[in-house]
Amino acid sequence: MAQLFDFGLVGLGVMGRNFLLNVADHHFSAIGLDTDAQKVADLKDEGHSDDIEGTLDKVEFIKKLSRPRKIMLLVPAGGPVDHVIADLLPLLDSGDLIIDGGNSHFEDTNRRFTSLKSKDIHFMGAGVSGGSEGARKGPSIMPGGDLKAYEIIKPIFEAVAAKVNNEPCVDFMGQGSAGNYVKMIHNGIEYALMQLMGESYDIMKLGLQQDNHRLKKTYYDWNQGVLQSFLVEITSQIFDKKDDLTSGDLVDQILDKAKQKGTGKWTSQNAMDLGIAIPTIDAAVSMRQISGMKDIRMKASKKYTEASLLPTNEPSVEEVRDALYFAFIMSYAQGMDQLSRASKEYQYDLNLESIAKIWRGGCIIRARFLEDIRLAYENDSSLESLLLSPVIVEKVNSVIGATRKVVQYTVAKGIPTLALSNALSYFDAFKSAELPLNLIQAQRDLFGSHTYERKDRLGIFHADWN
Ligand code: 6PG
Repeated sequence: MAQLFDFGLVGLGVMGRNFLLNVADHHFSAIGLDTDAQKVADLKDEGHSDDIEGTLDKVEFIKKLSRPRKIMLLVPAGGPVDHVIADLLPLLDSGDLIIDGGNSHFEDTNRRFTSLKSKDIHFMGAGVSGGSEGARKGPSIMPGGDLKAYEIIKPIFEAVAAKVNNEPCVDFMGQGSAGNYVKMIHNGIEYALMQLMGESYDIMKLGLQQDNHRLKKTYYDWNQGVLQSFLVEITSQIFDKKDDLTSGDLVDQILDKAKQKGTGKWTSQNAMDLGIAIPTIDAAVSMRQISGMKDIRMKASKKYTEASLLPTNEPSVEEVRDALYFAFIMSYAQGMDQLSRASKEYQYDLNLESIAKIWRGGCIIRARFLEDIRLAYENDSSLESLLLSPVIVEKVNSVIGATRKVVQYTVAKGIPTLALSNALSYFDAFKSAELPLNLIQAQRDLFGSHTYERKDRLGIFHADWN
């Protein structure tokens, strides 16, 4: 009898090919399907083993999978996912499992989950993070769907995932679309961290006059301490890269317009729907939009030339580091708070400790700080907000002074820090027992009889403002 494969993968782009090779490295046989003959050939070139096969033929692909079939899709989110599902569905048998490993919108996952369930096909949305290198060497995987389906794929996912302290960076996230939801929040945090790093770069380049050589060293040093993380590490590497086309450094030749595929924006949109504030993530999304307005920015830069900027005290490199750490904490806290709210709203029953745990390795936002987050939820699984955990309070208190100094400096110097200054204002609002929004309530009541509540007694009130 012909060999049956343990795992099938649809979409042999770099991510798909690497994931499949990773599966095969862990002694599971794997077959890939793509409509592009070159991609199938690339897989065969790289994977010289009886345990790896590639095909252009969906019927052959399905026939060669052991049952229940375990099929993962790594194709672009949106239409292509629906298209592949519709294509494979007539060939599948009851109890087979389809896993969407792309960045699908969680509402699309809900729709697919319900529709496939009615056909007795298991469906999982699994966030996969770590880029193409992660897919090859060990990503962080965030699967959601139903637990029975997860049990089918668990041995493979646990084998291929990144490991931290010998523990795999994968766990069942929760019902329905929980996996895609958690990955969406991961990406929202990713946007914030990247934007904050961009701002720290600006402060050190424009303010502290660090050249690329010095910047490389600064980020390298930062990566040895509390900021230790994948993003800080690669940033140091970026400043070391020479340009192939000119005599300078590559980073200086890259156009300052950042693109996006949508997951950061979805995070912000969903936070608005849930009524939860994640302004630092919102700021990161807005900054990508502002970066796209290059022509207008260039015109405006000629019209607004401030003659004299305010005198101010220059922060030290260590103070910039501390401010970045502060804002990193705010970004993770906002993301975790959104997860906590969504868990109730969508009945995901998320385990925030487990999420922090599987984000410690493999994924783009992996960082030493995630161990503190894990600890905070281990100590109190029903934390109302990450910022209320004693583990975190102590860390924030240690860097708040430096953050104020850095923000004051950027304001005086006119260095844009939409995310950093916003992280500080978010924090100041978060810790204010009194906010001036009593005035808003008064205004609403005056112009629209919208009523207000009082501090000194219960009930709903309306005043005769005339
Ligand atoms: C990951 C990343 C990845 C994401 C890219 C690009 O975890 O591996 O989050 O899934 O697609 O980072 O995202 P943008 O194009 O939106 O910046």
